[in-house]
Amino acid sequence: MITIDGVSRTFGPVQALHDINLEVADGEFLALIGRSGCGKSTLLRQVAGLDKPTAGRVLIDGEQVRAPRRDVAVNFQRPALLPWRSVLDNVMLPVEIFKWDKRENRDRALHLLETTGLAQFAKRLPHELSGGMQQRVALCRTLIQNPRVMLMDEPFSALDALTREELSMELQRIHIETGTTIVFVTHSIQEAVLLADRVAVLSARPGRVRQIVDIAIPRPRSFGHNAHLEEVAAASAELHQLLLENHLPPAPAPQRNR
Ligand SMILES: Nc1ncnc2c1ncn2[C@@H]1O[C@H](COP(=O)(O)OP(=O)(O)O)[C@@H](O)[C@H]1O
Ligand SMILES: [Mg+2]
Repeated sequence: MITIDGVSRTFGPVQALHDINLEVADGEFLALIGRSGCGKSTLLRQVAGLDKPTAGRVLIDGEQVRAPRRDVAVNFQRPALLPWRSVLDNVMLPVEIFKWDKRENRDRALHLLETTGLAQFAKRLPHELSGGMQQRVALCRTLIQNPRVMLMDEPFSALDALTREELSMELQRIHIETGTTIVFVTHSIQEAVLLADRVAVLSARPGRVRQIVDIAIPRPRSFGHNAHLEEVAAASAELHQLLLENHLPPAPAPQRNR
């Protein structure tokens, strides 16, 4: 369980986050959505232990996060592969860093590459692969850690729409199979509705949790025609409205007669 407890973060005069309170249950898929600059990445970095809150704290299983943890993996918008290492050696990187058994994990790495359609590319270098394939390699590198928690910061946003759909479907499959807890930052309503159990909508800066929307649509979910089009449309419309209202100036305080 992840507990975000009264987290605020300021950078000099800029207040990026204000008093964020959120809980993410084990196995839950939480999407964080909000306009650009509202503090999504900053919030994810607090959970990852890559930055310290100015106030409040983050707990994972009751333990305060003060540094990156081995059981928490982070994926960024750019796949951040090492260009001189083969696809397989990139996937094996955590195994080397954590000094895990190489032979055993090599088989796992090959299996992960196979399940993500990359088996023939194991010996290739990252630059020989498309952006979507590189992001798949990054996903395999995360999965080989068997993380309890995956923190993903707009991992598919640099990809074209169809590749993004494919990778979202893949992530959904992985989440269903592994039950990993996932916090997924996105500005795509479509991705949030496809993937999440709950969507936390952040307000414009300073980021606060504006609302949490439950997405109670059975899995597996799919894009395009499916049996739950009405629920998908309703959830999307609600998120759309919440994000749009973010752009409006604050409503004037109601006039009261005293
Ligand atoms: N290291 C930093 N130093 C100064 N300001 C920062 C830093 N990181 C983020 N910010 C500011 O905090 C706000 C939130 O940024 P960010 O979390 O990247 O937003 P998002 O990911 O939602 O687009 C922005 O105004 C950004 O300029
Ligand atoms: Mg960001």
